[in-house]
Amino acid sequence: MSVEEAKKKAAERAVDIVLERGFSLIGVGTGSTVEKFIEELSRRRVDRGRLLFTSSSLDTALKLAENGFRVLDPSTVSYLDAYVDGADEVDGDGRMLKGGGGAMTLEKILSYSSRFNIFIVDYSKVVERLGEKSPLPVEVLPQALNIVLSRIRSMGLKAYPRALRKGKYGPVVSDVGGVILDVEIPPERSAEEIAGRIESIPGVVSTGFFKGYIDLLLIGYADRVVEKKFDRVKGVHLAE
Ligand code: 5RP
Repeated sequence: MSVEEAKKKAAERAVDIVLERGFSLIGVGTGSTVEKFIEELSRRRVDRGRLLFTSSSLDTALKLAENGFRVLDPSTVSYLDAYVDGADEVDGDGRMLKGGGGAMTLEKILSYSSRFNIFIVDYSKVVERLGEKSPLPVEVLPQALNIVLSRIRSMGLKAYPRALRKGKYGPVVSDVGGVILDVEIPPERSAEEIAGRIESIPGVVSTGFFKGYIDLLLIGYADRVVEKKFDRVKGVHLAE
């Protein structure tokens, strides 16, 4: 089954929902699934003057603008009608790992400020245990890099600055100026516990652990989309 097809299915359904519900101020996250959302939205006959966007990355802002949509800087926005984003992993309780694109700090801020959060994933992102396939991304102030790294390692964890294979030497620096670290979650430990401890270290800006952010999860398969509703406050799965 093609993962790309599955991402496309989830993205198409998210476009249906955004248009049906008449949201007008919409936040858009970062990544390849979100890219499909923008492509699909661009294919539909929509009144571009009615929609206003903001985004978690320059990459997404440019893609929206290239397709004729109006994009606001996040610093000018105090709430959003809706927020649409992908995830690296999601478990049965709606907890997620995000930050594969290094944009989780703004992703968390935008989804926190949004009245309705739609997360779109392909079936391969659904896991039993967070950390099965992806590390926990951590954004750190550059000045605190070595202090935070050694503190995380002293917790018995493997952590390393994220590096690109080409195009840039040295650690990945996010759109908001932090250095991105990746922390492996050992099978016997919980992502939530580790993220909580790391978030309390001074110099850490945010982690890619998200709990209580999903209103609607759209899981794409090649031939269908499974929809799961969550209670954001209680963090529980309500219904399919
Ligand atoms: C970016 C993210 C993305 O949502 C996550 O990495 C999923 O990406 P993709 O849709 O390409 O699989 O958190 O920081």
